Amino acid sequence: MPEIRVCEHGEIADGAVRIVKTGRLEIGVIRQTDKYYAYRNLCPHQGGPACEGLRMPGVRSQIENGIFMGQTFDEGDMHIVCPWHGYEFHLADGTNVCDAKLKLQRFDVVQRDGAVYVVV
Ligand code: FES
Repeated sequence: MPEIRVCEHGEIADGAVRIVKTGRLEIGVIRQTDKYYAYRNLCPHQGGPACEGLRMPGVRSQIENGIFMGQTFDEGDMHIVCPWHGYEFHLADGTNVCDAKLKLQRFDVVQRDGAVYVVV
């Protein structure tokens, strides 16, 4: 499988994204806590540049004994937020948080000899 060299490890700041292109294909490579994720920069909703949106933690409701106690952020479940209409996708697997049938197209990421590659 062909690989595209993305960067040296550490060139992308934690939480940031780098868009790489090959032909008409755009892929967003996102670094989050020293792990890299790669998704096609194309939202399954209406084709927006999903990877260029915010990344933010999922929101969890806290309910105790059936009583709503508030909400907190779940830093262990980062979301990619599409900038066009706000659809959210789990960073870990690209699945939409509300509809598991909607997914960002995922690509494997390889780290070798201090560099980061995406497999296309
Ligand atoms: S195009 Fe991404 S949310 Fe609509």
